[in-house]
Amino acid sequence: MRGLTDRVFIVTGAAQGIGEATARRLNEEGAIVALADRNRVGIEALADELSAAGGRAIGVTLDVSSRDEWMAGVGTVLGRFGRIDGLVNNAGVTRDRSLLKMTDEDWDLVIDVNLKSAWLGCQNVIPAMTATGGSIVNLSSESRWGAFGQANYASAKAGLVGLTRTVAVEHARHNIRCNAVAPGATSTPMVEAVPAQIRQGWLDAIPLRREAEPSEIAAAIVYLLSGDASYVTGQILGVNGGSAL
Ligand code: NAI
Repeated sequence: MRGLTDRVFIVTGAAQGIGEATARRLNEEGAIVALADRNRVGIEALADELSAAGGRAIGVTLDVSSRDEWMAGVGTVLGRFGRIDGLVNNAGVTRDRSLLKMTDEDWDLVIDVNLKSAWLGCQNVIPAMTATGGSIVNLSSESRWGAFGQANYASAKAGLVGLTRTVAVEHARHNIRCNAVAPGATSTPMVEAVPAQIRQGWLDAIPLRREAEPSEIAAAIVYLLSGDASYVTGQILGVNGGSAL
């Protein structure tokens, strides 16, 4: 894909799942990748693996819900590489529980890690992009339409639609594009924690009759980061096997 070689991208939640697949794909495309995650061991292992194979990757340990940790992490990336060309706000968590049983902790954690995190990421990274332009991709979800047991998660993922479109409108003048990818069920550790019977039930609503591989979501994310998407902004790209049809 165009415009990725030697460019610098931050990917949050890069220790596993969709974030890891995105980091691997960016590395294959010749990009420099900052792997941001609270899982220090996971990102350092991946950074070592990519670097040993000739890639350029560093681990940046941070909690995406912390403003202070974002400031420090972005400072590390700028200090090392001198520029930031793109950001993937991918880190996420679930704490599923039906509405009446959901606790304040369930609500606050999921909103902070899935939604506030992306706002903090944009606030900290955009100043480094205003002179050069850049691309931001947020991870929304099919659950943004509402899903049983996911009042917190669905609200966060719907909130990301508003954030994505607002960033796109406010920063188009800086040639900063902002889009979201909304995956359907994807075979990652997040989903592997769901009982097999429930996962099997999902397949009935997916015309392609299978879950996505993380690399299939990564391909859409990297497309939106790339120069091939230079006229695409403010969009929510469903990658869901046709499940909304
Ligand atoms: P995952 O659970 O496999 O990986 C999430 C990563 O985020 C982990 O490496 C974890 O350490 C990191 N993380 C969690 N909290 C963090 C924090 N506070 N600070 C820094 N890092 C943190 O998740 P998966 O499946 O790869 O999901 C990635 C994104 O895609 C999430 O935003 C998720 O909501 C979204 N998504 C996933 C779908 C799926 O079916 N797997 C479907 C739709 C959206």
